[in-house]
Order: sequence, then structure tokens, then C-alpha cells
Amino acid sequence: MGQEDVIRLDPWGVSSIKDYRRLMEEFGIQPIESAPLKELPQLHRLIRRGFIFGHRDLNLIIKAVKEGREYAVMTGIKPSGDYHLGTKVTAEEFIYFTNLSSKAMGFFAIADLEAYADNKIPLEKSREIAISNLMDLLALGLDPKRVYVYRQSEEMNVLKLAFIFSRAVTYNMMEAIYGDKPFGLYYSALVQAGDILLPQLPEHGGPKPTLVPVGADQDPHIRLTRDIARKYREDFGFILPAAVYHKLIRDLTGSMKMSKRNPMGILYLTDSLESARKKIFSAFTGGRATAEEQKKLGGTPEVCTIFVELLSMHFLEDDKKLKEWYWDCKTGRILCGECKAKAWEIISRWLSEHQRKREQMRDVAVKLLEEHTLT
Ligand code: TRP
Ligand code: SF4
Repeated sequence: MGQEDVIRLDPWGVSSIKDYRRLMEEFGIQPIESAPLKELPQLHRLIRRGFIFGHRDLNLIIKAVKEGREYAVMTGIKPSGDYHLGTKVTAEEFIYFTNLSSKAMGFFAIADLEAYADNKIPLEKSREIAISNLMDLLALGLDPKRVYVYRQSEEMNVLKLAFIFSRAVTYNMMEAIYGDKPFGLYYSALVQAGDILLPQLPEHGGPKPTLVPVGADQDPHIRLTRDIARKYREDFGFILPAAVYHKLIRDLTGSMKMSKRNPMGILYLTDSLESARKKIFSAFTGGRATAEEQKKLGGTPEVCTIFVELLSMHFLEDDKKLKEWYWDCKTGRILCGECKAKAWEIISRWLSEHQRKREQMRDVAVKLLEEHTLT
């Protein structure tokens, strides 16, 4: 395999993954179908529809759900802006796996140190963004009684772990995993390893299976943390963290490079209805050049952001309706204008309802954030 053939994932940059099978083979991620999914009480639409494509050690979590034993679900967010369709994916996975069992505990890291290292966002600014992010999580169904929320800069146990782990890594190892990066990013990676292993400290009930739902480009962090967990198994009794992986989402212009420089492509959960409407009506579709052609040949829902990113990934829960929608497009029974109007009806209803709910969550969000601070 030539050098240019090697898949390089950059969790801080833009990764484009064309071949998920090869990615799994190269890094040892298991296909999601290999886990005993049937034993779960219900399957999330992201699993049913193949957006969650791979895992490591998900069996451990499913076993814990089945046997009613404790496990943790851990995630974090680098507060760089309001929630959008991309960040909503991880949020929903986090909530789904936490709500699967009354024995599950959620851990949510506000990665303010990473936001500083990567984007130079001041810690105080991170706090404001984090409150807005938490309001969305709560509105999406996060149970505030079942989650430990903290800021990296305020969680001494995480900082200590990062320091302890730093003994076990060298510059060459970090360079091999992440490429040549500023030291702040390497340090953030160690802090993130601290985040992921925090639930297993005695303060939180000791070693337990821990699931981290991530986008495929975050796998370097999972590999590093599993490696560290192995090295410190003797000292802490760590169980290697498990992970589920979702495919990277395109933006509404159909580009893989979701970027703030292209604001029309990103649908924020806080967008006004007017702005959301504009984004959806100008989204990239799988329509044909002319209406006649489309009536004759049908559209291509597989490449359409209305069908894939909006309806299938996010807004149409009912599998039967989704299938009908697919065939209406495929056979040319529906054209893009009418289709977008129909989609907008569903999405605008969802958005107004979500925004109404999130506004009611402000006080709870502030309280969650302030609960665990250093004094
Ligand atoms: N690195 C993640 C991001 O870019 C944020 C993060 C921090 C995280 N700690 C974590 C994700 C622990 C999963 C688990 O958004
Ligand atoms: Fe996409 Fe709808 Fe057009 Fe089909 S009809 S390509 S689903 S917008």
C-alpha cells in the first residue's frame, strides 16, 4: 500500500472518508452488525438506517444493559458554537445509550481547554456557549439527574489523569497518531483520555464498561485512550473504553467540509425559522435538470441532502413513511419543489417545538454547569 493510500484521520481538521469498510479494516473497528443488537430494547434510527456503522466492544455495553449492571456513557463537546445537525447526532447517541438502562450514568465534558488549544476561545466564552449547548441536550431528552456535567478546566481528576498519562506517551507516538501538531492539541488529547476514563475512578464507582459515541474522524482519540487504558490497567483496573462510530455528515450544500465559512450549509438548532427555511430551500438535491426529465427518470434520493441528511438522518422517524418518500422520489412521482415544501413542514414543526423546549431549560442548564466547579 503506497504512502498516499494510508487513511489519515485528523480530529481537529477536515477528514473525508470515502470507504468505511477500509477504514474499519485498517483500524480494527468492528461492523455494527457484529454486535448483538437484537438484545437491545429498542434500536435508534441512526442504527436502523446504517448511519452508525461500526463499534469497538459494544458487546460489553449490551451485556451490561441486559444484566442490569452499571455502565457509563461518556461524551464531550468542544464549545465552539451552537448545536447544529452534526453535533445533534452525537447528542442523540449519548442520550439514547444513557436512557437504555436505569443503571447507566452519563458523563458530559465541556471541552473548554480543547476549545482554547484549538480555537483560542477564552474559557469564559466557552461557558456561555456550553449553556446554550446544554439547553439543546436537555430539550433533546437528556435527564439532568443522570448526568455528570463538568468543564475540563474545572475538573481536577481529569487534569490529574492527563498528567499521569503523559508519562506513557512520547512525541513520536503522538506524531504517529495525529501528525505534527501544536503541543496544546497533544495535551488536549491526553485531557480527553482523562475525560473518557474519569467514570472508572473510585469517586465514580470504580471500573465499569464505558461507551463513547463518536464521529469516525475521532477514532484516533479512541485508539490513544484504549492504549493508555491498557498501560494503566494494573494501576486503575481500567476496562478498555467501548465506542460506536457514525458516518461523517455532509452539509446542506452537499459538501463534506462543514465549515463556518459556508453558513448556508449548516442548519443550527437555534436558527430562526426564516433562516432555516432559506437553507432548506437552497439545499443540494438529487433532482434532474428539468421537471420533464425528473418525471420520466425519477430523482436520486441517495445523493440528496433533503432525503439523506434531513429526513433520513434527523427528521422522519417513521421507517415506512421514509420508504414511501424514497419511492415517490425514485419514480418521479414527486418533484423537488413540492418535496422540499413537504420536508419543510415537518422540519419547521420540529424546530419550533425544540426551540420552545430549550428556552425552558436555561435554568437547569446553568445549574448543571455550575454543579461541579473548583473553588
Ligand atoms: N474532542 C471532542 C470534540 O472535538 C470533544 C471531547 C472532549 C470529547 N472530551 C471528550 C468527545 C470525551 C468524546 C469523549 O468535540
Ligand atoms: Fe431530493 Fe425530494 Fe428532489 Fe428527491 S424529490 S431529489 S428527495 S428534494
